[in-house]
Amino acid sequence: MKEKVLVVIFAGLFIILLYGGCAREGFVRKAAVIPIVAGAGYTGNNICLECHDDMVGFKKTIHGRIADFEVVGLSKGCESCHGPGSIHAEDEDPASIISFKDISKGEASAVCLRCHTSGSLMDWQGSEHSLNDVSCIDCHRAHSRTRRLLAQSEPKLCNNCHQDIRAKILYPSHHPIREGKMVCSDCHQAHGSFLTNLKTEERLNDLCFECHSAKQGPFVFEHEPVVENCTICHDAHGTVANNLLVQNEPFLCLQCHQFHFHAGKIGGEGTSTDVYGRSVTSSSQSMTMAYTTKCTQCHSEVHGSDLPSQSVPGQGGALTR
Ligand code: HEC
Ligand code: HEC
Ligand code: HEC
Ligand code: HEC
Ligand code: HEC
Ligand code: HEC
Ligand code: HEC
Ligand code: HEC
Ligand code: HEC
Ligand code: HEC
Repeated sequence: MKEKVLVVIFAGLFIILLYGGCAREGFVRKAAVIPIVAGAGYTGNNICLECHDDMVGFKKTIHGRIADFEVVGLSKGCESCHGPGSIHAEDEDPASIISFKDISKGEASAVCLRCHTSGSLMDWQGSEHSLNDVSCIDCHRAHSRTRRLLAQSEPKLCNNCHQDIRAKILYPSHHPIREGKMVCSDCHQAHGSFLTNLKTEERLNDLCFECHSAKQGPFVFEHEPVVENCTICHDAHGTVANNLLVQNEPFLCLQCHQFHFHAGKIGGEGTSTDVYGRSVTSSSQSMTMAYTTKCTQCHSEVHGSDLPSQSVPGQGGALTR
């Protein structure tokens, strides 16, 4: 009896998990619809401005300047976002007009997406921001005169919600974001992309190559983790170790390699096999030397090289020059 109950509970949990999993997917998620004020018609900006005279500045924003043909008849001035306002212009009731204070985040985005369907916004529906109930109006202010109508400039805008990243860009090694030479959206597309909101068409490494092209192969002697993913060794936001390294040398390298100092000698004591499987005798000194070494002092071309190292057993691939 007890087992049966458990089976039912687990089956139930499984279905909930399965459902919960699917519901997060962009394609089963229904786009929110734009709220409608029944029976209302369009009146035009001049009527609105009779009472909302503090909004005259709107004419100078990009939305105040768009021509109707640019958006195939969707441009109705104020009412292209706030909806038809004839009833509201009579009763002056905020409930009879689309007020962004009263509608959901999804509905607010739906208003903007009527026109903004192309370019980067094509990725919006499946983006982490959209799926986590972040809306256009969390980052943009329709009535402001800021660049790209941003609510705040970067990185402040992003850091409001991404406190963990804010902390990282203050670490000793960092991309020059806090110096104002770079912004989050040099690397990120806030509207979404297939990979962690990153501005890359295919692989994460392609993003890095945009600015660090010298690290782009193909090299005759490659280093496997470099080819695979730069973030195996680097954290793009900031680190305590130099060069944005996730760990200091030699410990970074020792995650994957045996410790040695010279000529492939293992940093242990006594007789053991070296990096090539040869039998070598090491002293306790070699251990100390291996631990206190900086591997890249010898393996300076850690990102890959076209020149063979003078190492016969290593087939020239020791990345020393
Ligand atoms: C006859 C005067 C009048 C006209 C015309 C008018 N409004 Fe209003 N509107 C008001 C008043 C009064 C309020 C309520 C203000 C408040 O509660 O602070 C209001 C509220 C609003 C709100 C909600 C503001 C909020 O704080 O939630 C929006 C949006 C709005 N109006 C847009 C428009 C638009 C767009 C038009 C033109 C289609 C328009 N109004 C025409 C008087 C008017
Ligand atoms: C591109 C879409 C868009 C257009 C066009 C637009 N608004 Fe707004 N309006 C918004 C949004 C979004 C908000 C909510 C605050 C914000 O994000 O700036 C808002 C807020 C308001 C408010 C509430 C006051 C406030 O600051 O919160 C009023 C009143 C208003 N708009 C009136 C107007 C009038 C009048 C016009 C035309 C002259 C107009 N809007 C054109 C999108 C628009
Ligand atoms: C009536 C159609 C329409 C609606 C609705 C609309 N926009 Fe726009 N928007 C445009 C057009 C057209 C442009 C200018 C061309 C472009 O940049 O795509 C524009 C430009 C912009 C820009 C770029 C500004 C710049 O400096 O380049 C931003 C940001 C923007 N809109 C945000 C919004 C947000 C947020 C909303 C919803 C509150 C919204 N739009 C609603 C048509 C619209
Ligand atoms: C998480 C913040 C964020 C959200 C949410 C967001 N945007 Fe943006 N948007 C930005 C930033 C940042 C830029 C400026 C990028 C740059 O500097 O090139 C931008 C730029 C734009 C532009 C200018 C053209 C372009 O593609 O770069 C338009 C139009 C725009 N946003 C519309 C929207 C609309 C519509 C929505 C909602 C569906 C939206 N944005 C949601 C942050 C956001
Ligand atoms: C030099 C490029 C670059 C810059 C600039 C950058 N990021 Fe990133 N960001 C990345 C990469 C690469 C990843 C993916 C990390 C991974 O998958 O291991 C990422 C991941 C993220 C994530 C996902 C969570 C995580 O920690 O992996 C968030 C959130 C984020 N970045 C926010 C920001 C914010 C906010 C800024 C500006 C303060 C910013 N990023 C600036 C490259 C950058
Ligand atoms: C209103 C809050 C808010 C703002 C503002 C905001 N984000 Fe986010 N962002 C979120 C939430 C919520 C998530 C999803 C959960 C998470 O990863 O923390 C997210 C996720 C992300 C991710 C991870 C995407 C993934 O696929 O894992 C990146 C990258 C990111 N945001 C970058 C940015 C950048 C760049 C800006 C500024 C232009 C920005 N965010 C502004 C709330 C915000
Ligand atoms: C938009 C251009 C840009 C992109 C994209 C970019 N970087 Fe950078 N990177 C820079 C700049 C600028 C510096 C600072 C150079 C300086 O200070 O001389 C830098 C510095 C670095 C440094 C050295 C940091 C130090 O402490 O000296 C590393 C490591 C690095 N980037 C790795 C990456 C990785 C990994 C990626 C991909 C996730 C990446 N970068 C993407 C522009 C970029
Ligand atoms: C196996 C670990 C590892 C991987 C993976 C890796 N790096 Fe590095 N990177 C290092 C080390 C160690 C340093 C510092 C020593 C040096 O300068 O050679 C460094 C330094 C850098 C620097 C700053 C110094 C310079 O040479 O300009 C940049 C930029 C950089 N790496 C970019 C990248 C890029 C882009 C990728 C992905 C294609 C990448 N790294 C992958 C280990 C790695
Ligand atoms: C994530 C694991 C990883 C990290 C971290 C790593 N490597 Fe490697 N490294 C590899 C792999 C895998 C190979 C290819 C091994 C092979 O071909 O037998 C390799 C190859 C090498 C080679 C050439 C060996 C050969 O046989 O061609 C050298 C030299 C090297 N790494 C040095 C370093 C240094 C120095 C560091 C630290 C800056 C480092 N590695 C960090 C995984 C790593
Ligand atoms: C004093 C210079 C020096 C230092 C420091 C050094 N190495 Fe080496 N390493 C070499 C030389 C030279 C070879 C080629 C060995 C040979 O010819 O027998 C080599 C070989 C290797 C190989 C095998 C290469 C191949 O071609 O198969 C790996 C992996 C390696 N080292 C990793 C490391 C790591 C990890 C560190 C840091 C703990 C490190 N090395 C420190 C000089 C050094």
